[in-house]
Amino acid sequence: MADLFAEEHRGTVAAMLQTIRDSRRTGSFEANLLAAEGVEPLDISIAPRLDDRGRVDGFVLTGRPLGALRAAYAELRQSHDALKTAQAQLVRNEKLASLGRLLAGVAHELNNPISFVYANTHALERYAGKFETYFARVQAGASREELIALRQDLRLDREVANLREATKGAREGAERVRDIDEDLRRLSADGAGDMVLFDLAEIVRVAASWVMRGRKEPVALEMEPMQSVQVRGRPGHVQQVVMNLVQNAVDALEGQADGRVRLSVVQAGDRADLTVQDNGPGIPAEVAAAIFDPFFTTKPVGRGTGLGLSISHKIAQEHGGTLTLCDTPGPGACFRLSLPCEAGS
Ligand SMILES: Nc1ncnc2c1ncn2[C@@H]1O[C@H](COP(=O)(O)OP(=O)(O)OP(=O)(O)O)[C@@H](O)[C@H]1O
Ligand SMILES: [Mg+2]
Repeated sequence: MADLFAEEHRGTVAAMLQTIRDSRRTGSFEANLLAAEGVEPLDISIAPRLDDRGRVDGFVLTGRPLGALRAAYAELRQSHDALKTAQAQLVRNEKLASLGRLLAGVAHELNNPISFVYANTHALERYAGKFETYFARVQAGASREELIALRQDLRLDREVANLREATKGAREGAERVRDIDEDLRRLSADGAGDMVLFDLAEIVRVAASWVMRGRKEPVALEMEPMQSVQVRGRPGHVQQVVMNLVQNAVDALEGQADGRVRLSVVQAGDRADLTVQDNGPGIPAEVAAAIFDPFFTTKPVGRGTGLGLSISHKIAQEHGGTLTLCDTPGPGACFRLSLPCEAGS
């Protein structure tokens, strides 16, 4: 039978038949079959034929052209790629969903400094009018007495002080807008970028305060004093994890009067641990088993995609870290994100 194959494979075929005869088990290998036009590469599987007494009395060879296999592989790879694209799209959609929630907060947050600046421009206009009146009189050569009276009339001394206050206020408002802009840039930074060194505590602060902004429910955010901890990774991704954990905690606290979320970042050796603890209803054991599964959600349609924790889990892994449910007894739920950090930072 070995002679049916190309010369370089005959040894393999003979050895394979021997092995199968001895073991009485199916085996497979690749070899070139001699065909009418040259050689035909095959994926061959050989099964032993046994007689009634269990002895090998023959073999069944099945050969599948490798070309067909390769085509099947290619198809498999294509579906795999399609799945990967779909997954990436889901990640993006999840980002969009959290973006929507975020935007509500941003609008609320910007409203304050903007109305502040706006109101101050009105005041500044009024002051300018008064000063113009006064200087017009000075220009016209008004007497000293008249000017003193006018100055009192227009309450110029007080308005000069107010002027300073107004410009200071406008500057603070503008600075606030600039800070918000910086936060947003950081949040929207493309996560797929390079791994960089960043301060985990800082990311946690920004991410958490953004989830909290513009919320109607009275949820208290308690951030334990956080030391800066240098972590290497993609800050945009880690921020997404923190935002999802805090968002989940806040969602769990809905309708609860004394809701609070406690965040802490500690460094323990070469790990940085972030814990997000809430005093909500907690997670029952049967739910806990599924929370990291994609699409698992207990939230109504439109409120949760169920992707938050599964994506967060994946991001933690990509950073060489872990995301786990703490095994501390309730009340509430507690998640721990543990990331490798730079020693001595
Ligand atoms: N702090 C928490 N307290 C109680 N249950 C929680 C908490 N965090 C997560 N869960 C449970 O885990 C489920 C999955 O969370 P996950 O973040 O993956 O999805 P989601 O929050 O439902 O949807 P999405 O994050 O896409 O908006 C939630 O639906 C909820 O049942
Ligand atoms: Mg979530």
